[in-house]
Amino acid sequence: MNMNRICTLLKIQYPIIQGGMVWCSGWRLASAVSNSGGLGIVGAGSMHPHVFEEHLIKCKAATSNPFGVNLPLMYPQIDEMMGIILKHQVPVVITSAGSPSKYTSLFKQHGIKVLHVVSNLRFALKSQDAGVDGIIAEGFEAGGHNGAEETTTLVLLQLLLGKLSVPLVAAGGIGSGRAMLAAMALGAEGVQIGSLFAASEESSAHLAFKQRIVESSEGDTLLSLKPIGGVRLLRNPFFDKVRQLELSGGSPDQFRELLGKGRAKLGMFEGDLEEGELEIGQIAAHIQSVEPVSVIFERLLSDYHSSLNGLCSHSGK
Ligand SMILES: Cc1cc2nc3c(=O)[nH]c(=O)nc-3n(C[C@H](O)[C@H](O)[C@H](O)COP(=O)(O)O)c2cc1C
Repeated sequence: MNMNRICTLLKIQYPIIQGGMVWCSGWRLASAVSNSGGLGIVGAGSMHPHVFEEHLIKCKAATSNPFGVNLPLMYPQIDEMMGIILKHQVPVVITSAGSPSKYTSLFKQHGIKVLHVVSNLRFALKSQDAGVDGIIAEGFEAGGHNGAEETTTLVLLQLLLGKLSVPLVAAGGIGSGRAMLAAMALGAEGVQIGSLFAASEESSAHLAFKQRIVESSEGDTLLSLKPIGGVRLLRNPFFDKVRQLELSGGSPDQFRELLGKGRAKLGMFEGDLEEGELEIGQIAAHIQSVEPVSVIFERLLSDYHSSLNGLCSHSGK
């Protein structure tokens, strides 16, 4: 795979970024991805500041390659998190869930590269104006929180094609080297992968959740909780309660009450498959087993190259 702007910007061998994921992406996953030649990401979204700092210290000790952090911009103690990021000289910050206009310049003043996650063209252009170094375009099939427009990755990449001067990374629904190649064909210079790594051995998710991902089939996830910000959930009894409230036209307050506190931790980290919130992308239906990150990387890369060779031989090159 040739070096491109994303590899050069992030100082990585392969243009594969592991998505920051609440309750799944601690130092173990991030360092495994970085050691495999991609960019591992410590997901700050589910961590208290002191826990986050511990993960950064452990991640630094476990890899000599660059790694980054994911910082959702609605995080309550964001200034404290920023201080920790600066103290530990993390080279890359991926921001999401909020406007990058305030924080991008603060990070950049300290030499940190900033990529921002968007789900539509308007925010992609705004983020570019805010000075980000790269845009991550995340389609509606992705795990985690999703854009209200419900634009798929395939469509979003085409909407962005030729509209940005900063490099573009595709996210959502990427579970194979062939899908990586398709994203590259649509102008992306890298991919951000979440679900596949959520089910990896090094993910901090509970084994019961990982097994549930492996057992899931087509149609098992749905964009849910839309009145309080859509999130893609795996079907389970909690999901059924959310569905019922959706069908009866529940108010945002009713959804907040149903969700309560700690549901995501309960499901993904503690493994309560009945009452917990299980966030995962549509590509879960394609995940066959819980594997080490190194094996996932080998397969992604060999599939990418064989697909590329196949395409070239089809076109007679
Ligand atoms: C369990 C889970 C939790 C996630 N949490 C976050 C998060 O805290 N912040 C964020 O920016 N994105 C989050 N995401 C989105 C991922 O970073 C990534 O963009 C997405 O998973 C890519 O789509 P895929 O799941 O189809 O690979 C999460 C995704 C999953 C599966």
